[in-house]
Amino acid sequence: MAKFLIEQSGPLVGEVEISGSKNAVLPILAATLLAEGSFEIDDVPNLRDVDVMCKILRSMGAEVEEDREAHVIKVETGNINTSEVPYGLVKKMRASIVVMGPLLARTGRAQIAMPGGCSIGNRPIDLHNKGLKLLGANISIDRGKVDASCGKLKGTMIYLDFPSVGATENIMMAATLAEGITMIENAAEEPEIVDLANFLNKMGAKIKGAGTDTIRVEGVEKLHGCRHTVIPDRIETGTFMVAAAITRGDVLIKNTVPDHVRPVIAKLVECGAIVNDEVDGLRVRGDINELVATDIKTLPYPGFPTDMQPLMGVCLSLAEGTGIITESIYEHRFKYVDELAKMGVDAEVRGTVAVFKGSGILRGAEVNAPDLRAGAALVLAGLAADGYSVVNNIEYVLRGYEDFDGKLRELGAEIAVAEDDRDIHKFKMRVG
Ligand code: EPZ
Repeated sequence: MAKFLIEQSGPLVGEVEISGSKNAVLPILAATLLAEGSFEIDDVPNLRDVDVMCKILRSMGAEVEEDREAHVIKVETGNINTSEVPYGLVKKMRASIVVMGPLLARTGRAQIAMPGGCSIGNRPIDLHNKGLKLLGANISIDRGKVDASCGKLKGTMIYLDFPSVGATENIMMAATLAEGITMIENAAEEPEIVDLANFLNKMGAKIKGAGTDTIRVEGVEKLHGCRHTVIPDRIETGTFMVAAAITRGDVLIKNTVPDHVRPVIAKLVECGAIVNDEVDGLRVRGDINELVATDIKTLPYPGFPTDMQPLMGVCLSLAEGTGIITESIYEHRFKYVDELAKMGVDAEVRGTVAVFKGSGILRGAEVNAPDLRAGAALVLAGLAADGYSVVNNIEYVLRGYEDFDGKLRELGAEIAVAEDDRDIHKFKMRVG
């Protein structure tokens, strides 16, 4: 398993270009299954999760051509010849569940393994199933496999008990080919939902209200291919904002949408960072004020994003004073706190609340990434910590960040990838 080798770095200074959004491009790739046609998708991030979704499309009979240098993916979906999603690929990536809606609407059948939980929570799909059943699908679950079938789906009113991002995406996609009107109430409002709706409307769908809590979908007979550019990744944006703040740096973040990160801007400003929305990007300065603690509660968009929660945990670990994080979306998203404790962080987790008694000092250590965003948080902690750190299980991080270490090095970070023990030995001899 590869590792990141990190030395205390900073201040990080310079410019970073944000890649396309992982959580926008995954449902957009799934949506291509809704139509026979040709698609060209631009600003696709080079991520392992994108590779998995491309494998899933190919396994269904689609032709997928990836130009990773140009960040372009071309998809031909004229020959979808199965409704069964390969078990191994679903297990690799929970997000594959958003293939269910498009596949059901296109072929009348979808067989997919329950995506299962992960280290941040058990992550059920009851809301996905509720919506698809209300549209007319028969869904049975047997030994961890979901088998959905339907005739022509029929539009209806669907209330989501929780504004689930994935459930909103699955239902919205399936509803595009249903008969009549579908109203999704208490829908998720994330920017990725809006990007997906824009993509579907380019395909000929009739969707209104994406980005609000009520989405209206008027079903159409057929959809067609289109071309689309994916929005920038707001969580990668927030990650580099925190990196600038905690290393006392001065970083210009380019190719981003400030409106998508308003809660992150607000919280970093409360912590003492200076954030300016400039013509060519978002400039974040941590070199003016000392870092001070604040309190954070994660909420569905437009509230503070849960995916930024571990990154803010690192910021609070370094800030003066006591900061409290309340995690309201997932049951187990504080696993990284045990890893930060190895670096000397004084924090206590009580259920869905973590209390950080910022010390300002972190000591380098060997730590283990428990999931994608916590892994990125531990990398940033390594940059700020005295001495050197090793972050294990970085496959998690590579799922969601394109060239993470390369972009950080461009800003002055001392970080490298170790493929084997020889690399680690050389690193420790040099820094130890
Ligand atoms: C999306 O996951 C994102 N992933 C997640 O980002 C993100 O954390 C999450 O939305 C919340 O913003 C992608 O878009 C690929 P949810 P999703 O359905 O769709 C409960 C990252 O790091 N729930 O909004 O799975 C669920 O248990 C990832 O990029 C139900 O109870 O999130 C959870 O507590 C991590 N029943 C909450 O809703 C359901 O049927 C949020 O889940 C569905 C969800």
